[in-house]
Amino acid sequence: MGLVRDRLLSVIADAAGIESDKIKIEHPEVEEYGDYSTNVALIVKGGRQVAEEIAAKIKSDDLIEQVNVAGPGFINIKLNQKVFIDTLIDINTQKDWFGDNQTGAGKTFVIDYSAPNIAKQFGIGHLRSTIIGQAIYNLYKSSGYKTIGDNHLGDWGTQFGKLLYMIDKSGQKTYDLEQLEKWYVEFHKAAETDKALEEEARKWFVRLENGDAQAREMWKKCVEVSMAEFEKIYDLLGVKIDYVYGESFYEEMMKDVIEEAKKSGVAKLSDGAWVIEVAGFETPLMLLKSDGGTTYATRDLATLKFRRDTWNPDVVVYEVGAEQELHFRQLFAAASMLGYVKPETKLVHTKHGLYLGTDGKKFRTRGGNTVKLMEVLEEAIEKAKELGCKDEKLATKVGVGAIKYFDLLHNIQNNIVFDWSKVMALDGNSGPYLQYTYARTQSVINKSKAEKSDLLPNYKTNKEEQSVLRWIYRYPEVMEEATIRLAPNLLCNFLHELAQRFNTFYNQHSILGDKDEETVNFRLELTRAVGQVLKNGLGILGIEAVEKM
Ligand code: ARG
Repeated sequence: MGLVRDRLLSVIADAAGIESDKIKIEHPEVEEYGDYSTNVALIVKGGRQVAEEIAAKIKSDDLIEQVNVAGPGFINIKLNQKVFIDTLIDINTQKDWFGDNQTGAGKTFVIDYSAPNIAKQFGIGHLRSTIIGQAIYNLYKSSGYKTIGDNHLGDWGTQFGKLLYMIDKSGQKTYDLEQLEKWYVEFHKAAETDKALEEEARKWFVRLENGDAQAREMWKKCVEVSMAEFEKIYDLLGVKIDYVYGESFYEEMMKDVIEEAKKSGVAKLSDGAWVIEVAGFETPLMLLKSDGGTTYATRDLATLKFRRDTWNPDVVVYEVGAEQELHFRQLFAAASMLGYVKPETKLVHTKHGLYLGTDGKKFRTRGGNTVKLMEVLEEAIEKAKELGCKDEKLATKVGVGAIKYFDLLHNIQNNIVFDWSKVMALDGNSGPYLQYTYARTQSVINKSKAEKSDLLPNYKTNKEEQSVLRWIYRYPEVMEEATIRLAPNLLCNFLHELAQRFNTFYNQHSILGDKDEETVNFRLELTRAVGQVLKNGLGILGIEAVEKM
């Protein structure tokens, strides 16, 4: 049937005699003015008079209950109640599919996200990437795209030379992630005074690259112990990424990239290194260092080539922090010089912001140390228990959901001031509030015996019911916009407003207790629909809707 908005657009376009993509329609700030307003009269360069004429033409359309013209020629439109009732029916029949669309049918979407580094803690920045990346993945999947998630693990590079040197020196056969991190720090301290260490590390990396068995085995162990820690976090977050082609996967492919870049003349020799000069950048992109080492950028070029050959994507999104902006700008330019992206393929770097403490400085523990992600998640679960979620499983869903929601509520590029009182606020714009509201809808539905009731198209709605109706039909629109704009925060705010409107209704009216059967039926279907949309929306955000709370 299509979005209400799109149907209305074509009605207006027909009446005005122009194409619908030239017209803007939006929701007026003040809801009393109408559900939509349009500037169509101004677009056709008419004033009030023209607006009145268009208004008169569209007035009798099925979708519309009332039209009026305001100011210099804005047309305000109130939707027919039938539209709202039909929406409720759609929601309650399409259920989990309500809000999905097919705008991406036939197109392929790749998202590069999470990407923690081997031998380092899973950082809070990688948490952001994981949470946002998963939400964007879900949005695109629900828009009909063939969707591919790839965890571009940091498992290669000269830093492994340093690590292998330290491991070898220690003589230790077993070690954990924490130990690896310590060695890495120790190496750097020692290397400040002992210049020979860098050379030792380089040698180890060469051994690793040349396939030396001992080096490979130590490296593999680093990957294993790190992944074991990362898996705990992914499990807790309920995130599973389609592919984990880490940087090491591109080892062989880099050779072709380097060869091609040299042959085509895209790469230039500079002080013994091969670089790619990108217009607008003072420092070129390093392709092959003078010591023969490859770089993060070399691997990213090989990755793009591989993605083109394997998936032929229409869009590739890199969910990575803003601090890597220069890297990605150079990468995208170099990749297009090398022909590794089709001209019509869109490459996007999301540039997410940082986590800050309530003091506005970098997020740290009370003791001033870097925050360990596992501890943050565990604290969230503890706090969910304080909210009354006694059961461990439930507390995990609520605690982890709270962290995810708080992250997604922020515009991706903004910094996040991490404030526990907001993260867990049962009465604020928070995950727990939405889960609580969902549980409330389910408790009503479970109490009623009715399977499903028919809705009367002319049921007389009260103010609070209308307020829910005038909001919930917008869900598919919001989904579309959140997808196009890579903005899960739009979805968060929509769901929060929906929950608030529902709770206002719930607090003022009895649902099952009303004497009138039609009223009970209507309210039940309304409650069902609100629950369904909350569940669908939370699902996109990667948050589980809980039956009881
Ligand atoms: N591992 C990298 C880091 O932590 C992020 C990788 C992002 N993805 C990419 N294709 N470069 O900084």
